Amino acid sequence: MSTEPPPEFPPGFRWGVATSAYQIEGGATAAGRGTSIWDTFARTPGRIADGSTGEVACDHWHRHREDVALLAGLGVSAYRFSVAWPRVQPGGTGPANAAGLDFYDRLVDDLAAAGVDPVATLYHWDLPQPLEDAGGWLARDTAARFAEYADLVAARLGDRVRLWITLNEPFVQLSLGYGTGEHAPGRALLFDAFPVAHHQLLGHGLAVAALRARSAAPVALTNNYSPVRVAGDGGADRAAADAYDALHNRLFTDPLLGLGYPRLPMAVEPGTVRDGDLAVIAAPIDVLGVNYYNPTGVRAPEAGSPLPFELVELPGHPRTASGWPVAPDGLRELLTGLRARYGERLPPIQVTENGCAYDDVPDADGRVHDPQRIAYLDGHLRALRAALDDGVAVTGYFAWSLLDNWEWAEGFTRRFGLVHVDFATGARTPKSSYSWFRGVVTRPTPAGE
Ligand code: BGC
Repeated sequence: MSTEPPPEFPPGFRWGVATSAYQIEGGATAAGRGTSIWDTFARTPGRIADGSTGEVACDHWHRHREDVALLAGLGVSAYRFSVAWPRVQPGGTGPANAAGLDFYDRLVDDLAAAGVDPVATLYHWDLPQPLEDAGGWLARDTAARFAEYADLVAARLGDRVRLWITLNEPFVQLSLGYGTGEHAPGRALLFDAFPVAHHQLLGHGLAVAALRARSAAPVALTNNYSPVRVAGDGGADRAAADAYDALHNRLFTDPLLGLGYPRLPMAVEPGTVRDGDLAVIAAPIDVLGVNYYNPTGVRAPEAGSPLPFELVELPGHPRTASGWPVAPDGLRELLTGLRARYGERLPPIQVTENGCAYDDVPDADGRVHDPQRIAYLDGHLRALRAALDDGVAVTGYFAWSLLDNWEWAEGFTRRFGLVHVDFATGARTPKSSYSWFRGVVTRPTPAGE
């Protein structure tokens, strides 16, 4: 880690941490919550590394006041959480379940009282199971259902949420949820999953209209981005990297920013993209949410592969407990690359997730030292500062995550938090990265700025 103090950021820069509903809340049947695709998936033997579910998770449902106090103690100006669709519409359609919305209503008020801006994500992968039974994101109707749900949440929270994020990482929902089946709902359709991309985008566009109709603003969409590094020096490797880049980095963002779909390595069934859809999808947004974890190595596939690329490990990088390469420069590359690709079309960016898992263990005194996480965050903040100096408009940064939590198919085996959670008792212990991050976010603005 650098011994220099972390770089300075402009006055008014938004500092936050992020979480998502299914990963922290628990309270799986509380206050009329319905079943989501992740409840179903987690209960299916063999799907989750440690056989766990998010039924209790971090028990945020009962401990939310303690968690707001942790946010206040951290000194962040914003908190990104997600609203669980099955709490608001247990069956995925129909009127709002007021008791479910009450929870978020209290949370938003508690955050405001603590001086923390609420940033709400409407969809962080927890589709109501009845909608999946009706086709999930493969069904066009799910886009309309999503807008209806967005309207219900905006009607209740629209006056207090400071940034609305429609979808979290539609690429990951598409690729792992419906492409390979490693995530809920566990469908392995490979490229036949394309309608999932289009219907998420359409749902986003319709939700933007619903939010605007309620004066709920500003509005964003968050995606996951990964700079592609070509492994190999052949033209076939380059072509494979381009195909992967189109899927991971452009499939959602090109249409979102009014460029239509890029050339994709898959056939699109006639009738999926209808007249007028692209205009709905390209409705102006106020912020682009960028999640960054690592770059991806790509080379040409073996003969007979069903995919036009092969993903390979990138040599020469330290790795997190997830096995992901640590490459802070990738964040600068990605941000300047977005600026170069989209130019004036690009709205201001907020980095809505960035972080790492390590096997953090309390010491004999009960303290949790996580120098590797501090080094990771420090490196990425330097890269972010460099991107600002390159002229990219970035107005916020959220570390993933406030708490160690339920890491999807990895269950409780990956710790991403600035706060350690004892998963048996729910006890929270701020790690050394929590104190370090507080120092960054509460640093006085330099004189004269
Ligand atoms: C997701 C989070 C997840 C994190 C680490 C992101 O893809 O939005 O829910 O926990 O990465 O894997």
